[in-house]
Amino acid sequence: MSSLQALMARGNAFFGSDVAIMAGAMSWISERHLVSAMSNAGGFGVIAGGAMPPAILDAEIKATQAMATRPFGVNLITMHPQLFELIQVCAANNVTHVVLAGGLPPAGALEAIKAFGAKVICFAPALALAKKLIRSGVDALVIEGMEAGGHIGPVSTSVLAQEILPEVADQLPVFVAGGIGRGEMIASYLKQGAAGVQIGTRLVCATECIAHPAFKKAFIRGSARDAVASVQIDPRLPVIPVRALKNAGTEEFTRKQVEVAAMLDRGEVDMMAAQLEIEHFWAGALRRAVIDGDVENGSLMAGQSVGMVKAEEPLAEILATLVREAEAALA
Ligand SMILES: Cc1cc2nc3c(=O)[nH]c(=O)nc-3n(C[C@H](O)[C@H](O)[C@H](O)COP(=O)(O)O)c2cc1C
Repeated sequence: MSSLQALMARGNAFFGSDVAIMAGAMSWISERHLVSAMSNAGGFGVIAGGAMPPAILDAEIKATQAMATRPFGVNLITMHPQLFELIQVCAANNVTHVVLAGGLPPAGALEAIKAFGAKVICFAPALALAKKLIRSGVDALVIEGMEAGGHIGPVSTSVLAQEILPEVADQLPVFVAGGIGRGEMIASYLKQGAAGVQIGTRLVCATECIAHPAFKKAFIRGSARDAVASVQIDPRLPVIPVRALKNAGTEEFTRKQVEVAAMLDRGEVDMMAAQLEIEHFWAGALRRAVIDGDVENGSLMAGQSVGMVKAEEPLAEILATLVREAEAALA
């Protein structure tokens, strides 16, 4: 066994994969094609269930099962109003791994997932929350730094890794995400105790990915400094920052926040509804760019590693490159 395989053994046992690299769920992008390609190539694909109603998730899981010869997971967003129905859809389809994203899981969610025998993976944004999640029985953690694409926390991946891995990596598998564009970085996090990693941006230009050609082109052109975090304009509206390539859509988000803050002022929505309004905005804006190819007005969610995305290539090749780089770093 190579030293890379030895370092990935725990992550592979957890996923049932050959390479302990998880394809982080990306709304609209992480559907049957990308997910089955990732798992069939030996990694671990995850369906993005965040923006899906139950019937659509049901169809997507079934379609992915028909294409995948290896295990894959489903990502759900904790603030989804139909979270428990979505969990039941996973149960009915014998999903083996459920990732809960977007904040601490509500009471009963972990139990509902464990009840049908699936493994639960949660995001830990800080050490104290990692410990709390471990006590509540999660099976694995993802720690994701602010270099990542999409919704982000305030702390960098390198700092989260140093704070959290030495404290908890011996207790359960921890996967590191955010800013990973090359295998050398994967090797480094594995040596620090990670069981594996999660990547998103690096996979968007996979041939199998259904993202619009214009979306992929923007990734190939983009550099690290183009992938900027959104700015919060109203302190009362605690919007979660989103990292995306700068375009006209970035300004549109500022306008949206003013609109939602005014709705709050007029008492038309409460805070929860205001946040959902913002999340619907992002889902719609991302769809516009990913599916319709409107890369000017839609949202080009991308991490800082976007500068290392240089061409469209088959997913198996991307994975092979990352493995080769990681092995070379460890040799
Ligand atoms: C276009 C895009 C959409 C994303 N959508 C989601 C999502 O719906 N749910 C989620 O949990 N994470 C989402 N993410 C985050 C990824 O799952 C992953 O954690 C992140 O991309 C890892 O960082 P990296 O982009 O630096 O590799 C998204 C990321 C991107 C780039």
